[in-house]
Amino acid sequence: MAASAMCSFVTVVVELVEVFRSHRSHRSRERDRAAHGDRSDREHWVDKQDNQNTAVTQSSQRRHSKGGVPPDVVNSVVPIDKNRKSRQFVFESSKECVCVNIIELADANYGLYVWPCAPVLAQYIWFYRDHVKGKRVIELGCGTGLPGILAALLGARVTLSDSANLPICLKHCQRNVEANGLSTTEVPVLGVTWGAFTPSLFELGPLDLILGSDILYEPKDFENVIVTASYLLHQNQHARFWATYQLRNAEYNLEKLLKKWNLVCMRVPLDHFDADTPSIGGSNLPGVHQIEMLVMTVDPTQEEPKPPKKDTIRWS
Ligand SMILES: C[S@@+](CC[C@H](N)C(=O)[O-])C[C@H]1O[C@@H](n2cnc3c(N)ncnc32)[C@H](O)[C@@H]1O
Repeated sequence: MAASAMCSFVTVVVELVEVFRSHRSHRSRERDRAAHGDRSDREHWVDKQDNQNTAVTQSSQRRHSKGGVPPDVVNSVVPIDKNRKSRQFVFESSKECVCVNIIELADANYGLYVWPCAPVLAQYIWFYRDHVKGKRVIELGCGTGLPGILAALLGARVTLSDSANLPICLKHCQRNVEANGLSTTEVPVLGVTWGAFTPSLFELGPLDLILGSDILYEPKDFENVIVTASYLLHQNQHARFWATYQLRNAEYNLEKLLKKWNLVCMRVPLDHFDADTPSIGGSNLPGVHQIEMLVMTVDPTQEEPKPPKKDTIRWS
């Protein structure tokens, strides 16, 4: 009796998570359903016997593997138990392959599962991986941390951060750091709340890159996000803020805030970094969502990093 009540509760929570995702899209529900259907058709569900450790082992074995990924493990989503699953994102070229394992929790907290913007930002990082190596990076509102963890696996010195008021998200993100063979000493997870000038923000040290995936989603928070980004960019004049933004409402407008806080913003078309596809890193999460890649800086004369040669990018 108790077990069946718990089972129904978990089912309701899983459904709620999907409903939140759909509500936050500016697209119609029909299109969302189409995207979800497409996703479940194409994702390879690994046998339920598999567990998180299997995915982690695959990740560490394949982090430096050459020559591509066996097709049977691409797109894998591994159920760990009723309310947790591990997604594996695979970024590969003809020369190298990096896999990122992200554990998702069926929970109403936005930071406990991957949003469609995250694989798009991760793809930008992957595309510019030669530029990212060795850089000092912070991810704001990182949630499960896909872009930041990818940057760390590519050799950046990364700090992940989420709201200081959401310890559950910070703890979960630490699990994701460890699920990728990294330690939280190498990749610290800090409470950095947008718009709050606290020691965790002041003590960050020099930065080259600021990352943010889907952190401009709630108009009431836009200014706090921009204030924090502006503070970090003015402290680190050469740095850039790479952000992915999901278009949910045509009336949302960042222009006034960018001007107020002295930031310059460029939009990078998705086809410039091979992200004009519903499937990224082996995941169909981006689907039909309209996502923009934004690069913000205080110095408009900064040039874009040089992209790798086109022929080094290969899609699985
Ligand atoms: C839509 S989710 C995006 C999560 C993740 N970046 C992704 O794309 O999958 C928004 C994230 O912002 C975090 N967040 C919400 N309010 C915040 C605040 N005031 N300061 C810092 N992070 C916040 C949430 O906990 C959540 O992780």
